[in-house]
Amino acid sequence: MTTVLEDRQQVLNALGRHWNPTAALMLAAASRPVEQSATGTEVVSEEGDRFLDLAGSYGVFLVGHGNQRVRDAVVSTLQTAPTVPPGAVHPATAELFELLGTILPTGLDRFVLGCSGAEISETALRAVHLARPGRRKILIADGGYHGKTLGALTVLGQPNHRAPFEPLGSELVTVDYGDAAAVREALADRSVAAVFLEPVLGGAHLTVPPEGYLEEVSAACRATGTLLVADEIQTCLGRTGKMFAVEHDDVVPDILLFSKALTGGFIPVGVCALSSEVMAEAERHPQWDPALLAGSSSISALSVAAATAAIREVLDKDLPGRAATLGPRLTDGLAEAVRRHLKHLLGAPGVGFMAGLRTRNPSVELLISMVMGRHGIHTGHSLNEQIDHPVLRFYPPATITAEEIDRVLAALESTLTWLDRRPRRLTDGITRLLRRQYRLPSWLVLKLSHSKMTVDW
Ligand SMILES: Cc1ncc(COP(=O)(O)O)c(C=O)c1O
Repeated sequence: MTTVLEDRQQVLNALGRHWNPTAALMLAAASRPVEQSATGTEVVSEEGDRFLDLAGSYGVFLVGHGNQRVRDAVVSTLQTAPTVPPGAVHPATAELFELLGTILPTGLDRFVLGCSGAEISETALRAVHLARPGRRKILIADGGYHGKTLGALTVLGQPNHRAPFEPLGSELVTVDYGDAAAVREALADRSVAAVFLEPVLGGAHLTVPPEGYLEEVSAACRATGTLLVADEIQTCLGRTGKMFAVEHDDVVPDILLFSKALTGGFIPVGVCALSSEVMAEAERHPQWDPALLAGSSSISALSVAAATAAIREVLDKDLPGRAATLGPRLTDGLAEAVRRHLKHLLGAPGVGFMAGLRTRNPSVELLISMVMGRHGIHTGHSLNEQIDHPVLRFYPPATITAEEIDRVLAALESTLTWLDRRPRRLTDGITRLLRRQYRLPSWLVLKLSHSKMTVDW
């Protein structure tokens, strides 16, 4: 019989050989346990250790891990309607669309589904270029994140699908996040087709914009005929204390993107929601064809069932309300921790259950997440050692209780007390190593991190 450690070693070796050797080495260095099961707010390792999950896959597990209602919907759909070809008339898809219409800001009532965040960002870009054919520029925020696909259209051999978007690619205009005046200035000459923005900047930067920012951006867009695309892939369905984060500013964008939390982590799916006005403008494009916005794998009976069940769960459990009322217990607790431990921390940005700790350097982020792991708490590491002050994220399932939040804060206090005994020059030194980690020999990475694992790939 193999031991748990040998099992973990085998898993890591297979991941290192066939998937991503760097990621496998990092998992080995972090002594990350092999996950056996997960329910609600908890992940259980193969060794039987229980972890409170505040990483939450960066927003995916809003309704909790393995949510029973979503699971039941997926299982019963699997037994009755395993496939929905794109052309089929399927009542469940219609039901999902009707439901989406009731939760989205008024006016966003046309939907295109996709299998990932990046795919629906692409859908939005295509819609923008159809609706604003004379403008090539897209305005983005420094630090923004909208996915990582690169150019299926550039290799497409069917001119009718490619020509409406040529010349392919957008011209980028980048401004600082939160600076409405910079947006106004960039839009003034009416050459920008659309502004792509996260209402709360996620990623390693986690930034809540100044009050009224989105309203000002929206007004600048309206004044210049620029489309506003709100990327709510992370913030959707209540994470920030409102069903959609744009509602904090009472803004209705022209296009709204959301995914992560949408199916409770069972099946990746995303929605590109468009206003009827934008769709009408896209449809007026001389080469318009409804297929221009569609993909062939984007609607499946399982993802539709999972999304419908997850949204009903969000509504019935009032998860936006929970994030609004319980979120401050977490965000205030993190802010208090920063006040007590300024040696290594810079701030506690956040809203609702989208919270984080801005660290003085990447090694502080790593050390806190590793020691929190020893306290039985997973946190959301930014996986970005190149920026100076990465934010360690706390994105719990919105079903988390007050007692669980207090457990997290108590573990954090003890972690930060431990860290305060370490001099800043030590974390500066580890940061220099971290930035070179992909070039260090794997044995040295494992030795420095006191890991019991070895690498065999
Ligand atoms: C705000 C935001 N937009 C887009 C994406 C891309 O989503 P995906 O990884 O599903 O392609 C992400 C993923 O983390 C995201 O956080």
